[in-house]
Amino acid sequence: MPPPPSSAPGVVRAGFRFRCIACGDLGERATQNFRCSHCGDLLEIIYPDWKEVSLDPASLKSIWRERRTSQSPIDLSGVWRFRELLPPLENAGQAITLREGNTPLYELPQCARITGVPRLYAKHQGLNPTGSFKDAGMTVAATFARLAGFRWVACASTGNTSSSMAAYAARGGMRSLVLVPEGKISWSKLSQALDYGAVTCQLRTDFDGCLRLLQELVLRAPVYQLNSINPFRLEGQKTLALELLEQLDWQPPDHIIVPGGNLGNSSAIGKALLEMHELGLIPRLPKLSVIQAEGANALVRTLREAGGKRLVNVQAETRATAIRIGNPASWKKAVHVLEATGGACEQVTEIEIAQAKAEIGAEGIGCEPASAVTLAGLKKLAKQGFVKPEESVVLVLTGNLLKDPDFTMEFHRGDLFKDGVDDGASAALKPLRHPPIILDATLDAVIQTLEQAEKQQA
Ligand code: F0G
Repeated sequence: MPPPPSSAPGVVRAGFRFRCIACGDLGERATQNFRCSHCGDLLEIIYPDWKEVSLDPASLKSIWRERRTSQSPIDLSGVWRFRELLPPLENAGQAITLREGNTPLYELPQCARITGVPRLYAKHQGLNPTGSFKDAGMTVAATFARLAGFRWVACASTGNTSSSMAAYAARGGMRSLVLVPEGKISWSKLSQALDYGAVTCQLRTDFDGCLRLLQELVLRAPVYQLNSINPFRLEGQKTLALELLEQLDWQPPDHIIVPGGNLGNSSAIGKALLEMHELGLIPRLPKLSVIQAEGANALVRTLREAGGKRLVNVQAETRATAIRIGNPASWKKAVHVLEATGGACEQVTEIEIAQAKAEIGAEGIGCEPASAVTLAGLKKLAKQGFVKPEESVVLVLTGNLLKDPDFTMEFHRGDLFKDGVDDGASAALKPLRHPPIILDATLDAVIQTLEQAEKQQA
């Protein structure tokens, strides 16, 4: 068993407190499982000092802009650049950073035509160092793990959290333990954890089973848990929204649309929007909407069947394995930010996900299946009139195309829906397929193929 850490998970530091999201209990340190010691609900980080110290919006914007010309590692991080709104460090050298964040905001002209929403953008978090949005949260949480003296960090994951955690642990000189469901995780993600030196366990259960086990493990062994139950993760992930608003010159879009799995990311983005609004950094709140796969629709059902008052969990099944989650830990936080920003929650089918992923790919940027639920969801929200043609929309693309090459290959070869998910609707996908063509190595064969492709396009 690893040696115990030198202090508790939530090192006592000036400037922030842990607050229980249910009973409001305030504390200077967190318990090992990041749950309230009174009622067992999740904790969030709050900053009571913000009221006293003057956080003038114009000076904040100007400091953050200036840091973009700095060469110091902490300023080159698109997360720590916004450190005034994060748990404070004593010195810049404490941050474990891989220069995360700084991700592009792309226009999506073809998808804009398809959806009838001309002002459509994608914030591509898949262009982070390990290929997903997790890096923004991991730089902060791994940093505080090391500051608290932990030697081991651990997570349950559908793949991206584990890739990210393993990388930041390696950078920070810590060991890492990964719990992933056996099968149902892309090789690409698994291989990252292996390369970064994690002890990787493929458990014969699903993601929800892995997370349950991790929650018990952290009470028994001195390992620091790096799932998004850990509120430091959400603080880092908040910076996605800060960076996005900076890219839009602090003019809020009408809508931000994000995929929902364990619901940490939507909670983090929502927290950032509410904080920015409270601090006067933005004049109004964008509507934050969450989209889930139909086969992993716990939040959709929680809102429709229980009015957001209790979790309706599901047995999750979807080829978008990143969001194959039936018992989302942060559901209460997500319900809160949806209500506070006036956002919607929708579900999309497997076919709709595959089609949207190919349409994003056709823009030349690509993403993993879980990210494509955002475009599929936008189509629904636009049809329902929730998103209006004149409004601006930002889709949060959470993971890189290369994270799940099997899905992409099966899609283009026409094999994706072989197992009976398809009811004939996949015919609509045919024009989007570009399977590889095996030919004899002759000039004639290649020229003929070129001519055929030209004819098909015309
Ligand atoms: N998109 C991708 C690519 C993801 O990897 C995840 C979550 C989500 C969306 C959903 O985000 O959980 O914050 O609602 N992946 C986790 C993991 C669970 O273990 O990598 P969420």
